[in-house]
Amino acid sequence: MTKVYLNGTYVAREDARIPVEDRGFLFGDGIYEVVRVIEGRLFAWDAHAARMANGLAGLRIRQDGAESATLRAVCERLVKENGLATGEATVYLQVTRGAAPRIHHFPPADTPTTVFGSTARFTPNVAMRTNGAKGITLPDIRWSRCDLKTVNLLGAVLARQAAQEAGAYEALFHRDGMVTEGAATNAFMVVGGVLRTYPLCHYILPGITRMEIVSLAHELGIPLEERPVSLSDLPRVDELFVCGTTTDVQAIVELDGEPIANGKPGPVTVRLREALTRRLMAGAA
Ligand code: PDD
Repeated sequence: MTKVYLNGTYVAREDARIPVEDRGFLFGDGIYEVVRVIEGRLFAWDAHAARMANGLAGLRIRQDGAESATLRAVCERLVKENGLATGEATVYLQVTRGAAPRIHHFPPADTPTTVFGSTARFTPNVAMRTNGAKGITLPDIRWSRCDLKTVNLLGAVLARQAAQEAGAYEALFHRDGMVTEGAATNAFMVVGGVLRTYPLCHYILPGITRMEIVSLAHELGIPLEERPVSLSDLPRVDELFVCGTTTDVQAIVELDGEPIANGKPGPVTVRLREALTRRLMAGAA
């Protein structure tokens, strides 16, 4: 029986009930996190907790019941109770503004938030990581607070569906002629020996994996610039990869039906993928 966490209790997934007036359901009025778990250890917990706190503050949702220490304990207990203390898994956390009659503005300040947590077994796609994947490009139709990890994911849902229909793994968004990020990943390119990625701002999610890649690039002496690459330059980059909690480092070797460079994962991508794997495993030691 799979257990989930809902508002202070651990219940069988089938028994978890959320009121139909929950603002997460009605308005997408909430924040979520996905955390990687390796051998029972939460990877980069503090960074995930800080991003969630920042997102809740950004939406002006109260954090009580969703403090870092509380959520960490929830994650660790779910991992144990669901038999995921060995191997790989993910934890999903979501906090919404709670249930209240449907009015757009905030409900009374004492409305309890909804705090939910669940776990899942995770199996990395080794063949795709090794061989590379296909990508497509799409206009970024999302709102301009993509730095908040809200449960409003329609931009990502539509983009990932378009990718799926094109036989691709990821859709890369562009805004004002610049490549921002993937539908559920951050994007990096190698241009003239320099690793480039869109700078942190309201137009992209401050990815935890992105942060790890930036730190690994410094550690490995790979030149890095947080500077956008234009959509028109994208087909001519030397390497392209996307990264995320459930994506690790994933080379994109074909974009909109055309190969990137020689159509194989490039050397910088492979180095960073291996370095990230080492870091993930070390976090699990
Ligand atoms: N997505 N950009 C977007 C838009 C994302 O949704 C994600 C993560 C990332 C990568 O962030 P991180 O490295 O912290 O996972 C970047 C999660 C995994 C999801 O929606 O399932």
